[in-house]
Amino acid sequence: MSNLYEEAYNQSINDPEAFWGPIAEECHWYKKWDKVLDDSNKPFYRWFVGGEMNTCYNALDLHIDNGIGENKALIYDSPVTNTKRVYTFNELRDEVARFAGVLAAKNVQKGDRVIIYMPMIPEAAIAMLACARLGAVHSVVFGGFAANELATRINDAKPKVMVTASCGIEVKKVIPYKPLLDESINLAGFKPDSCIVFQRPMVQAELKAGRDYDWDELMNAAKPHDCVPVLATDPLYILYTSGTTGQPKGVVRDNGGHLVALKWTMKAIYDIDEGDVYWAASDIGWVVGHSYIVYAPLFKGATTIMFEGKPVGTPDAGTFWRVIQDHGVKSLFTAPTAFRAIKRDDPEAKLMKDYDLSSFKILFLAGERTDSDTLKWAETNLKVPVIDHWWQTETGWAIAANCMGLHHFPVKPGSPTKAVPGWDVQVVDPNNKPVASGEIGAIVVKLPLPPGTLPTLWQNDKRYIEAYLEEFPGYYKTADAGYIDEEGYIYVMTRTDDIINVAGHRLSTGAMEEVLSCHPMVAECAVMGVEDRLKGQVPLGFLVLKAGVTVDHDQIIREAIQMVRDQIGPVAAFKTATIVKRLPKTRSGKILRGTMRSIADQKEYKVPATIDDPAILDEIEVSLGAIGYGKKASK
Ligand code: COA
Ligand code: AMP
Repeated sequence: MSNLYEEAYNQSINDPEAFWGPIAEECHWYKKWDKVLDDSNKPFYRWFVGGEMNTCYNALDLHIDNGIGENKALIYDSPVTNTKRVYTFNELRDEVARFAGVLAAKNVQKGDRVIIYMPMIPEAAIAMLACARLGAVHSVVFGGFAANELATRINDAKPKVMVTASCGIEVKKVIPYKPLLDESINLAGFKPDSCIVFQRPMVQAELKAGRDYDWDELMNAAKPHDCVPVLATDPLYILYTSGTTGQPKGVVRDNGGHLVALKWTMKAIYDIDEGDVYWAASDIGWVVGHSYIVYAPLFKGATTIMFEGKPVGTPDAGTFWRVIQDHGVKSLFTAPTAFRAIKRDDPEAKLMKDYDLSSFKILFLAGERTDSDTLKWAETNLKVPVIDHWWQTETGWAIAANCMGLHHFPVKPGSPTKAVPGWDVQVVDPNNKPVASGEIGAIVVKLPLPPGTLPTLWQNDKRYIEAYLEEFPGYYKTADAGYIDEEGYIYVMTRTDDIINVAGHRLSTGAMEEVLSCHPMVAECAVMGVEDRLKGQVPLGFLVLKAGVTVDHDQIIREAIQMVRDQIGPVAAFKTATIVKRLPKTRSGKILRGTMRSIADQKEYKVPATIDDPAILDEIEVSLGAIGYGKKASK
C-alpha cells in the first residue's frame, strides 16, 4: 500500500497541474490563474499565469480576515540586546502597511527595487513585507558582506530606495552598517534616490541631507498602504548568490509559485500547522531566512521567531534551548555548523538539561551535508527526529527531505532522504545518461521545476540558461554531485563547481581568487575549500609571487587576507594563505585544485597522469605542513 508521500510524489511528477492546482486554491487570489503551468516558452516555465494575488496579503491580512489577528505572528528574541518583542498578525500588518506607506511616499511603485541591508531585527522583515505589499521587488543583502559586494548588487538591481539600520551586533561587537552603505553607494555607478535608516540605540548613523531619512520620523508621518495586486509571475524578490565569478547571480523569485509552494511545505515537510511556533535560526540575508523566517511560516498562519544571536556566545551554548523553552518552539531549522559549535562548547549537552524542551518535536538541518557525528549527537541528546534536507538559493525550498507531514521514512546518515514531491531528481553522467543506482554522477532535476523555484536570473536569461540548463538539456543542473541508492535515498556529496560552503554560507573561491590576483605582488593564486571541524569548510589561499619580490612574506599574506575581508566581507572567513613557488598544474595549464585539497585534508590521492611536474606536490605538502595542514602538519 502506498503512503501519503508516494501518492503525492507520483501525482506531482505525472500530473503537476492536478497536484499544484488544488494546493493553490488554499491561497488567496484576487483573480484565479488561467493556467497552472505554462510551458509554451520552453525552457522557461511559468506557474499560475494570469493569476493575480499579493504575497503580503497572504502572509498577514488573510489571517486577520480569517479571525486569527490576535495570534502571535513574529517573536523577536535578541540575547545580544536583551530584548524580546511579540507582534500579533494585527500589529505586524499595521507596521508593514505603514512602512509600505513610507516607501510609497518615496515613490516606490510596483516593480521598483528596494535593497535591504539590515541585521536580524523585526524592521528587516517589516521592510521585506512592505515591498511585497506594494508589489515592489526587494533584494536583501547579508550584513557580513563588504561594501564592494553591496555595490555590485546596487549596480545590478538599481534600487530606488535602500533600507538599513545604524548597526548590527555580532556577539559582543557592534558593527556600524551606515558607513558600509555610504561606501557602497560611492563605489556603485547607479545611485539610489533615498536611504531609510533605522537608528538603533547603540549607534547613531549620520544622515546625509536630501538622501537619508530616519525610519521613525517617516513612520510617524506615514499613512498605511493597502496591498497592490500583482501577477503571480511578477517578481517578489532578487537574492544574489555566489556564482563561479565575482559577479553574483541574481536569483529571481516570483510571487504566485512561491506562495503556493512555500505554504504547502510547512505541513508537508515541517509538519507545522496554523498556530504552531516555528523557528529558522538563520539570517534574512540567506534564502533560508527569506523562505522560513519570513514568508512560509506567515503564509501558514504559524508563529515565526526572529533570533538576533548565535548558537554559542550569546550568552552560551544553551541559548537555543532557552529560546525553544521560552516560546514553545515545535520545530527548529538550522545548519549543522550551529550544532557543531554547540557540541564543541557543551559536548555533554549539560546546558540542555536546564530547559523544558517538551514542546520540541523535530530538528531540521540544511545548508551543508549533516555529518554523522552531529546527527548522532543531536538525536541522542534531543531525543527527537533529526532531519537533514537539501536545497539551494535557486530552488527556494527543499529538493530532498524526509517529508515529516507526509511520511516519516527511516533516517539514513549522510542522506537528506528522498526527492520532495515536485522534484524529478536524477543522477546522470557527463553525456546526460542516467547512471545506475549507487553510482556517483551529476545530480540534475528534470524540467519543469516545481513552483517557487527560480524562473530566471535578474534581467539575464542568457546566464540563466548557460548556468543551469545548457549542460544537461531538459534538466536543471544543481551543480551538486552524488548518488541515489536502490531505495531512492539521495546522497549529496560535493559541488561540481568552485562554490564552497563555510559555516552554511555559500561562497565562491573564484571570487576570492579575483580579489587576490589584484594584489600587486601576486602573479598567480588558487583558493580552495579545506575541511574545518567547526565550519565544515574554510577557504585556503595559495599565492605565487611575481619574480623579484623581496617584501616580507608575512606582510603580503596579511595584506591578501585584508583584501578579501575588505572586498568580499568577514563572512568569507578567509584567514589562511601560504606562499608557494609554483602551483601544480596539468600539462594544459589547469591548476590541480582537487589534488591540493586532498593533500590538505590528508586524503588518499593519485598523482594525476596529466601533471606537468610531480615534484611540485612535495613542495605543496611542505608549504601546507608549515601552516598546519596535511600529513606534514606540525599542529
Ligand atoms: N554582519 C556583520 N558581520 C557579520 C555578520 C553580519 N550579519 N555575520 C557574520 N559576520 C562576521 C562575523 O562577525 C565574523 O567576523 P570576524 O572574522 O571578525 O570574527 C565573520 O563574519 C564570520 O562569521 P560566522 O560565519 O558567523 O562565523 P563565527 O565564527 O562568528 O560563528 C558559527 C560560527 C558556526 C557559530 C556561525 O557561523 C553560525 O551560527 N552559523 C549558523 C549557520 C547559519 O546561520 N547558516 C545559514 C544557512 S542555514
Ligand atoms: P545555498 O544556495 O547557500 O543554500 O547553498 C546550496 C548548496 O549548499 C547546495 O548546492 C549544496 O552544495 C549545499 N547544501 C545545502 N544543503 C545541503 C544538504 N542538506 N546536504 C548536502 N549539501 C547541502
